[in-house]
Amino acid sequence: MQAVQDQKELRQSFYDKIDSSNVTPLWEVLHSVITREPNTPCLPYLWKWADVQGWLEEAGGLITAQEAERRVLVLENPGLRGRTRVTHSLYAGMQLILPGEVAPAHRHTQSALRFIMQGSGAYTAVNGEKVTMSVGDFVITPSWTFHDHGNPSSEPMIWLDGLDVPIVELLDAQFMEGGSQASQEITSGANVNFAEFGHTMKPVSYQPRSQTSPLFWYPYERTREALETLKQHGEPHSCWGYKLQYTNPVTGGWAMPSIGTFMQLLPAGFKGGGYRSTDSTVYAVVEGTGRCIIGGQTLAFGPKDVFVCPSWMPYQLEADSDAVLFSYSDRPVQQALDLWREAII
Ligand SMILES: [Fe+2]
Repeated sequence: MQAVQDQKELRQSFYDKIDSSNVTPLWEVLHSVITREPNTPCLPYLWKWADVQGWLEEAGGLITAQEAERRVLVLENPGLRGRTRVTHSLYAGMQLILPGEVAPAHRHTQSALRFIMQGSGAYTAVNGEKVTMSVGDFVITPSWTFHDHGNPSSEPMIWLDGLDVPIVELLDAQFMEGGSQASQEITSGANVNFAEFGHTMKPVSYQPRSQTSPLFWYPYERTREALETLKQHGEPHSCWGYKLQYTNPVTGGWAMPSIGTFMQLLPAGFKGGGYRSTDSTVYAVVEGTGRCIIGGQTLAFGPKDVFVCPSWMPYQLEADSDAVLFSYSDRPVQQALDLWREAII
């Protein structure tokens, strides 16, 4: 017994000695660092649209878009409070822009997606091109491109922002700067970008300048029509129904290098089988009602709700009416690093 105590003290004294030189024994932490399976602090959670919308309205009376730069309420994962993230690797925020407001131009190395939740008629301008956005549209602002938003319509506009903030932070590769004017100069005609890249074609002289899709607006109408056609002509997958991945139309790869984006349709009455994957996933409901059964909880969802499924936690999706779900995750990063896994339970 004395021998064990002596050994314990000897070891601790050794640890204390090397600690002052910033050295530490791996064997004391090995099994909490290299775990048998993903050990994410991310928790399943659902934000109800009615709550978030109400809080955004309140925020609209407290601060202008100009003053805030971006009037956004961050959806913080309950397992990651204070860390400005919805999963371990990704950020989610809900942004409100009121009629007549401008969210001024800036650029940063973080890539961003916008997924439109409410309203129509507001625009996003990226690199001198402007798109007008409607509910269900997916819009990209690529890394290090100037972007500003404005709302010339008569109704408030709300969208979900998804960014790779924690990934860029991990790599210490963050840069940001403001634009020289609030609204950037528009140098391209309306819908030119969509004409160039939105029809499975491209300009003959096009040379890629980045890994991000040159198409930066994916209208919901097209996506919805595609899913409906698939539903009419085939059986749904047992876990995810009818599911499509947004692509870079030139390479066929992911639309964004760091964030994978998807849209799926769960037909009315669908009861999905158990599924898990290593990419923690953020879901935003476009249409319909249903449930996500995960970790002993049932997350009942309706239109515009947002919910999170953490890495490697099995879940099942069910739909009462036809349900359409947008989702995003860090899958492109995991695949680039040969890390991604999935399993049907
Ligand atoms: Fe931004």
